[in-house]
Amino acid sequence: MKKRIFLSPPHLGGDEIQFVQKAFESNYIAPLGPMVDAFEREFSEYTGIRHCVALASGTAAMHLGLRYLGVGSGDEVFGSTLTFIGSVTPVTFMGGTPVFIDCDRETWNMDPVLLEAELERCAKAGKLPKAVAPTDLYGQCCDYARIYAVCQRYGVPVVLDAAEAMGAKYFTQRRKDAKEKEGEKLGRSEDVKSGSVQTTLVPRAPSPVTLNHAGKGGKAAVFSFNGNKIMTTSGGGMLASDDGELIEKARFWSQQAKEPFVHYEHTEIGYNYRMSNILAAIGRGQLAVLDERVQRKREIFDYYRAALGCATGIAFMPEAAYGRCNRWLTVVLITPEMFGADREVVRQALNAENIESRPVWKPMHLQPVFDCRCQRSDIRGQQGKQRYSARVVGGKVAEDLFERGLCLPSGTAMTNSDLDRVIDIILKCRRA
Ligand SMILES: Cc1ncc(COP(=O)(O)O)c(C=O)c1O
Repeated sequence: MKKRIFLSPPHLGGDEIQFVQKAFESNYIAPLGPMVDAFEREFSEYTGIRHCVALASGTAAMHLGLRYLGVGSGDEVFGSTLTFIGSVTPVTFMGGTPVFIDCDRETWNMDPVLLEAELERCAKAGKLPKAVAPTDLYGQCCDYARIYAVCQRYGVPVVLDAAEAMGAKYFTQRRKDAKEKEGEKLGRSEDVKSGSVQTTLVPRAPSPVTLNHAGKGGKAAVFSFNGNKIMTTSGGGMLASDDGELIEKARFWSQQAKEPFVHYEHTEIGYNYRMSNILAAIGRGQLAVLDERVQRKREIFDYYRAALGCATGIAFMPEAAYGRCNRWLTVVLITPEMFGADREVVRQALNAENIESRPVWKPMHLQPVFDCRCQRSDIRGQQGKQRYSARVVGGKVAEDLFERGLCLPSGTAMTNSDLDRVIDIILKCRRA
């Protein structure tokens, strides 16, 4: 059997072990310690988000963010239907009701037009959501400018689920030519030398467009360092915000809400959600090589696209003009009538060759744990399992992407010959 190719395994940079070694030497192997402080500082420097708190998971980060915004029983929180469940479960932890908004075909992220219409409808009905928490799917920022604008109009805070988007960028000014493609950074200058005109490439004046890191600009942002992410601490997360008060409150809750007394004193209920010093040491090593990882993820995407892009019936996840995706996973859409095989046939063919791939995330409104038709929360489903009431707005686009979408192996340690192995199998599935 050939060696297993995983979907997106961890890729250590080399320095992690030295950071971990230092943590061991300092004996700070308990939660908290200098590595956590340094990781938070370096994370803020990297993302440009002023404050942050390192946590046990991205799910914990979303939980604390929603708690800060006061989400409670009977409140609605709008999220993306095309997402991973860790984005949504915190709404139910707080007793709220998730409302799943469909995505658009251009970005696969929350459709701002649907969001606007639903907010308008809710405002007229006198019941706005407590928060909007859209996902930056597969490392592509959702349309922050439009989402912020419409949410601001209704005074609804935005918590960005940037769990998959470390290293992704968003251009603050929407311009068609906003991308910093190679060569675009260079302008031309003409030099007259001994009667002949020589044209040389020189750096252009800085573009008026600012590149912001994913998660910047909302009330708060959530990041995940789960083992499959572009950078990992084996498991962990971060809540980040430009609002220092929000982060201090989240930090307090994440450490069992301990009041500042020498004895243990509690006036609120908290959680044991903090990141350990050892895991923060791994995070520091991973952050140091993140730019390289983004570059390799993008190369992997380009490699797949060059080899498969002209195969009839295969399309790639588009990149929005307003940003720069980290291409955490390369995702394709397979149209069976054109390609000659459906997504599941391809997935199984890869699996038979010891290669992991995965369908596009199953939309939240199709998950059996949520009931989007019934507005009661005491619903019992199959085998008496509790189901949670939810609502969906649209849903057909996400259903189609789920039906046809396949996430291809995208580990940054993959070689081009590993990629060729995947490509050959996919092409063999084609109609003869
Ligand atoms: C979009 C999204 N949101 C939330 C999460 C939850 O993060 P974690 O696994 O760190 O709890 C994940 C990933 O796992 C995710 O992909």
